[in-house]
Amino acid sequence: MCGLRHRDDGPVPAARRPAGVLPQLLLGTGAGHGLSEFTAVAWDGDAVAYLDQRLLPGAVRYERARTVDEIVAAIASLAVRGAPCIGIFGGFGVALLRQTIADPRTLADAIARVRAARPTAVNLAWAVDRVSAADDPLGEAQTIAREQVAIDAAIAENGLELIPKGARILTHCNTGPLATAGGGTALGVIIAAQRAGKKPRAFVDETRPLLQGARLNYLELRQAGVDAVLQVDSAAAIAMARQGIDLVIVGADRIVRNGDTANKIGTYGLAILAAHHGIPFYVAAPRSTFDASIETGADIPIEERSAEEVTSFGGVRVAPEGAAVYNPAFDVTPGRLIAAFVTECGILRPPYGESIPALELRPLISVR
Ligand code: MRU
Repeated sequence: MCGLRHRDDGPVPAARRPAGVLPQLLLGTGAGHGLSEFTAVAWDGDAVAYLDQRLLPGAVRYERARTVDEIVAAIASLAVRGAPCIGIFGGFGVALLRQTIADPRTLADAIARVRAARPTAVNLAWAVDRVSAADDPLGEAQTIAREQVAIDAAIAENGLELIPKGARILTHCNTGPLATAGGGTALGVIIAAQRAGKKPRAFVDETRPLLQGARLNYLELRQAGVDAVLQVDSAAAIAMARQGIDLVIVGADRIVRNGDTANKIGTYGLAILAAHHGIPFYVAAPRSTFDASIETGADIPIEERSAEEVTSFGGVRVAPEGAAVYNPAFDVTPGRLIAAFVTECGILRPPYGESIPALELRPLISVR
């Protein structure tokens, strides 16, 4: 079973509970397992509760999505974000829609809208399809959430061997508990290294344009007591040249059969820089991020987002009125630039044309 265990540490302490969310409904989320100060997503009776990640670190505000419009808006606006986390949220969303929409055609349309709310992270479609097909939709959504906690713990444990003592690690975007509703993927590995006494130093890309690195990754690393230093994305090259970076580790939104990997915009450039400097480049991701239906990265759909995300900074316009903008939210790193994938089933090495399809044959984790 990929060497996975499921640990249930009991209810969430009152101090960490989102207002309006019953404590028993939080079981199965990251917060129930002491992994984060926050609960990213939780079932709340007649709604899916979520932490609005756009407001962090300035404010901690929980919202409730009760309709398909609210579910889609939370995902599309990045209030809920990170590939595994939107999968879990989408799964709970489908469970809710199946409770509240009686007409089959209206339900199918609503589910299709949730599935398409963000196109690149395959976890969303994967979880939506799984809950749509289940006899017990809410039970299935809860299971997906509980599985992610166990999967993240296994990824963190498996990734430890890649982290030397005192390693200087460059990372990009946010891949911690907020991004997975568990313990995180790439950030989970860094945090595990800290807990194992390896004293890593994390170089945190701010991650333009929406600053998931500056706002969320830095926050989570600090909560975990990791020595972290924030840098602008364009400092990555000189950090590799002058700061003794030992490795790069990032998460993923979709990994295809040959190892080509979609992740937050800027990741591809980091991989090229790492190759130039002879630095290993790792990707940490659960099996639900692997898409066996696609052969190469050329066929991964890349989400393009609004011009305002680039023409403004902190709500203030910085570019001339009417500036034309190219704003892809993700890029695709060729598999040949990736030294290894860290998964809940272990570490995958090249040739990925063999090791990735073999992953499909491994049994899935069960926490039922
Ligand atoms: O646009 P976002 O913030 O959802 O992008 C998130 C990322 O690119 C993460 O690196 C990825 O989803 C992995 S999360 C463990």
